Amino acid sequence: VIKLFDQKINRSKEKSIKYDELEKRFGNSELLSMWVADMDFLVEPRISKAIEQRASQHIYGYTTRPKEYFEAVCNWYSRRHNINLNKDNLLHSPGVVTSLSIAVRELTQIGDGVIIQTPVYPPFFDVIRLNNRTILENKLIENDGHYEIDFDDLHKKAKLAKMLIISNPHNPVGRVWSYEELEKINEIALEFNIIIVSDEIHGDITFEKKYTPFNMINQNAITLISATKPFNLAGLQASFIYSEQNSYLLKLQSMLNILDLKNNNCFSIFGIQAAYEYGDNWLDEMLKYVRKNMDYVNNFCKENIPMIKPNMPQGTYLVWIDMRNLGLYGTDLERFMLEEVKIAVNMGISFGQMGDGYIRMNLATNKETVEIAMDRLKEAINKRVINI
Ligand SMILES: Cc1ncc(COP(=O)(O)O)c(C=O)c1O
Repeated sequence: VIKLFDQKINRSKEKSIKYDELEKRFGNSELLSMWVADMDFLVEPRISKAIEQRASQHIYGYTTRPKEYFEAVCNWYSRRHNINLNKDNLLHSPGVVTSLSIAVRELTQIGDGVIIQTPVYPPFFDVIRLNNRTILENKLIENDGHYEIDFDDLHKKAKLAKMLIISNPHNPVGRVWSYEELEKINEIALEFNIIIVSDEIHGDITFEKKYTPFNMINQNAITLISATKPFNLAGLQASFIYSEQNSYLLKLQSMLNILDLKNNNCFSIFGIQAAYEYGDNWLDEMLKYVRKNMDYVNNFCKENIPMIKPNMPQGTYLVWIDMRNLGLYGTDLERFMLEEVKIAVNMGISFGQMGDGYIRMNLATNKETVEIAMDRLKEAINKRVINI
């Protein structure tokens, strides 16, 4: 039996950003592709079946959401995360980044301070900057590959802020924030009357430690949730906004209406609902598989290339690797990865200045690819160290 996640899928014909833009973005279509957060796994078969059934109708007009669509999300959250969401407080949005930008635009004013915890997913910077708000960086503190929140600094920045955007779990450092950490964030936010936006797109991608939906702590928080990351459905373009603060929801819905972003497309309705209804086992198996890849990378580096230090993420399928012992930064590190290692990764510096000297590698792929990647890293590093 071919194991589902071990299969090497040729993705070259699907027009994927991950593969079909290698040439355009990195100048070499032959690189091993381990950048953008997109998995190489075939989806849960009932998801593709639902989409294929819809496709086989051969009429693709405007499509309405059945009530089961939002119910499926609520059932998933009560089953997997022990929280009862109210389906009337869920909004549809085409994507989490769209929701972030709309939240910044509708709930803060031009020039207002918005806190982000760096290093962090690059669009967090963009949605603040492009909307002419002010970025306030609450830098995470690193201790031997493990990241913590600098609460003293957060308290200082909070005085200047109207909004705080968190990544829960955190991309790229892989922290699953604990209940206590989120409570502390919440206390500070309440003290200074700051709106919390919690990007929970990685909430279902956790290992031993489970994630806490921010809404459990503060019902007014705006949480952004999506089946697209855990089930690899980003191309369907559908996600959710949740809050129990109706005044926020009204403003966000109004902007979604203004931009006419309120409808699902005809495929996302079926695909996303199927994911939440049938995805449990697939997701659990996927997580076990990725966890093994993480272990492999960690053990391999310890034994063969101890000068580079991968973290062991508590959540996300992304490994954050400290390459600083190589003494390469900025474009030098990038050139090393592209020309000597020949792997496309996300450069740490794109997550903020403090990410310089790190890379983010996507391990949601078959084991063989991970092994090849580690061999390439080892060979390129050994060559380099001998030449120094
Ligand atoms: C933290 C985070 N937020 C949002 C996104 C993208 O969300 P969407 O495709 O729904 O805009 C990603 C994708 O990697 C992510 O890591």
